Amino acid sequence: MVTGGAFVTFEGIDGSGKSTQARRLAGLVRAQGREVVQTREPGGSPGAEEIRRLLVEGATDRWSAETEILLFTAARRDHLEKVIRPGVAAGKVVISDRFADSTRVYQGAARGELRQVVDNLHALMIGTEPDLTFVIDMDPEAALARGLARNSGEDRFEEFGAGFQTRLRQGFLDLAAEQPARFRVIDGARSEDAVAAEIAEHWQAAFG
Ligand code: TMP
Repeated sequence: MVTGGAFVTFEGIDGSGKSTQARRLAGLVRAQGREVVQTREPGGSPGAEEIRRLLVEGATDRWSAETEILLFTAARRDHLEKVIRPGVAAGKVVISDRFADSTRVYQGAARGELRQVVDNLHALMIGTEPDLTFVIDMDPEAALARGLARNSGEDRFEEFGAGFQTRLRQGFLDLAAEQPARFRVIDGARSEDAVAAEIAEHWQAAFG
């Protein structure tokens, strides 16, 4: 078992089940005797959680994609400084429900041609990639039904609709194809246990 810190992220469209799977991997890694920091974006630190509320609540036209990129990056910088970097430096396994790949896809690809802006700002302000990223791949119609069914008051992105979710899905698959060493694409249209078992195998292969 590797004892150094690690940074693992979960990505996918809204309602894909990635949050449940991030929680399950955190439980498994803890059971293996490692210290785990379970976190999420947008948010994950007190300052970033304040920015989260600005982003996920309210009307879909509240922010342009450009303004969103700045807000998500501001939240990410705080999360990185206060939670991710200190956790990895202390030898912990930091597991985040979303990270920079979400900005690449949600703001960089699905709402316009802003990927270069996202990449430039990432290089300037974040400059960190996960060691391992799971994309939980799901049919957008099924995922949308699950996401909205939660009725959490945090549905701003889900309300962009099914066409948007289809572009997001393709965006995550394209990113994974660009960087196969970091990504594992997991078929999310199976039982929670089957998905968790496959993720556990990948975890063992990479860090066991
Ligand atoms: P969540 O539902 O996974 O908590 O994420 C909240 C919403 O924020 C979700 O619809 C995806 C969106 N999002 C972005 O658009 N860009 C980002 O960089 C991140 C982290 C999330």
